[in-house]
Amino acid sequence: MSHTWWRGAAIYQVYLRSFADGNGDGVGDLAGLRARLTYLKDLGIDAIWLTPWYPSPMADGGYDVADYRDIEPVFGTLEEAEKFISEAHELGIKIIIDVVPNHSSTESAWFKEALTDRAARDRFWFSDEPLNDWQSIFGGSAWTQVPDGQWYLHLFAPEQPDLNWNNPEVHQEFEDVLRFWLERGVDGVRIDSAALLIKSDTGYEDLDEVHDVYRRWREVTDEYDERILIGEVWLPDQERFARYLRPDELHTAFNFDFLSCPWDPAELRRVIDLTLATHTPVGAPPTWVLSNHDVTRPVTRYGRADTTFAHGGRLHGTPSDLELGYQRARAAALLAMALPGSLYVYQGEELGLPEVEDLADELRQDPMYARSGGTNPGRDGCRVPLPWSGEEPPFGFGAGTPWLPQPDSWRKLTVEAQRTDLGSMLNLYRTALGLRRELLGDGTLTWAQWAQPGDGVLAFTRDSGLTCVTNLGPEPVPLPAGEVLLASGPLEGGLLPSDTTVWLTGVEA
Ligand code: GLC
Repeated sequence: MSHTWWRGAAIYQVYLRSFADGNGDGVGDLAGLRARLTYLKDLGIDAIWLTPWYPSPMADGGYDVADYRDIEPVFGTLEEAEKFISEAHELGIKIIIDVVPNHSSTESAWFKEALTDRAARDRFWFSDEPLNDWQSIFGGSAWTQVPDGQWYLHLFAPEQPDLNWNNPEVHQEFEDVLRFWLERGVDGVRIDSAALLIKSDTGYEDLDEVHDVYRRWREVTDEYDERILIGEVWLPDQERFARYLRPDELHTAFNFDFLSCPWDPAELRRVIDLTLATHTPVGAPPTWVLSNHDVTRPVTRYGRADTTFAHGGRLHGTPSDLELGYQRARAAALLAMALPGSLYVYQGEELGLPEVEDLADELRQDPMYARSGGTNPGRDGCRVPLPWSGEEPPFGFGAGTPWLPQPDSWRKLTVEAQRTDLGSMLNLYRTALGLRRELLGDGTLTWAQWAQPGDGVLAFTRDSGLTCVTNLGPEPVPLPAGEVLLASGPLEGGLLPSDTTVWLTGVEA
């Protein structure tokens, strides 16, 4: 098995609109990100994954791509993107971009051409009548009518027409797009909605022909050194999921079972074991993900009575004990970082930001909110611009008014405030990522015989000899003998308190 950078990497997800604003228009951009690259270097991450940065009408935060070969002017220019890639590389940080092959934008050249020329419609799914009763994933019908009477398919918002992967031109286009960015030095591609590309009478989820697409993409990627393909594949069936990770397809895929898992010892143990059992036969490293730009922030989720995550039931407004959630999020971070494979950190996770649940309805921009008729609050609450410094909004995000308002209470959570506080979430992440780089990452784990999920304790030792113990039970438990390297919260003498993780060395098996 080759041990290349991505197998154990810590990858930081940048949601560009909300990271840092360099030009004062209230929206994050490349200038802001470039100015903060040393922050990410100091945090100790290996790679950055940026959500889409292409020209876009922003009907879905950039996942409606108008031109796959350029940069959204609000974010910067192609020249700046190239500079950013080389600056990151100079700091030893790899760059992963987001490619969206399932759908395009109604503002793309192809769709505009299709609107005026019926002969150019075969790149999309146009038809005289809706071909089925499919519902959009964001709510409402998946079919929209154009002025001449025909209908087109969009699994997401109407501004995101689905591409027709039966058309060879679509295949050719995306191979060219991959090459365009690989030539510019990007180290990897995150593939949006990766399992949905192929449509048939029976449906669109995970149809077998989708694997032909990724086999071809793998061939293209392998023409370059050490570049990777990462799939956004939400599939409960592990056997079907593992097919995407066969040696001639994608390198890794996000672990959404772990992300959705409740804060429960038996469930976590089950998901970790299942993840390892799924990945080992195909030789792919697992990934460990606690959050991203689509899901409720862990501090809020773990503070609720129901700690699961599901898109349909976002539990918005359900009471959350944020102090408890914060403590659990710290424990979860050390657990996730100790597991074998690669790790994803979504911006703001390292600051312990909670979900912003009290945004005014008229400020919500996520199409999920509007298309559900307001019944689903959508994902804006995890996309609020980051707080960097100062005592009041915009908290150093930029000179302008942020595109979504930041809560006043974030004055305690700014990077500046946390930097000097040794017990802060930021310092926990920084220290843990440093230790992780030396002692963790890719490899295997051995569950400790002395701890059982039934007792509320998860404990395992890694190849390097580091032991990770998490207490999810209600009472403090005795710590094994060994040297404590790091703990997510204060230890009580020889005891590990509830909702706390500790890393130790020198523990007897
Ligand atoms: C993915 C993205 C999400 C987007 C959707 C449609 O799930 O993560 O943000 O809305 O695809 O592109």
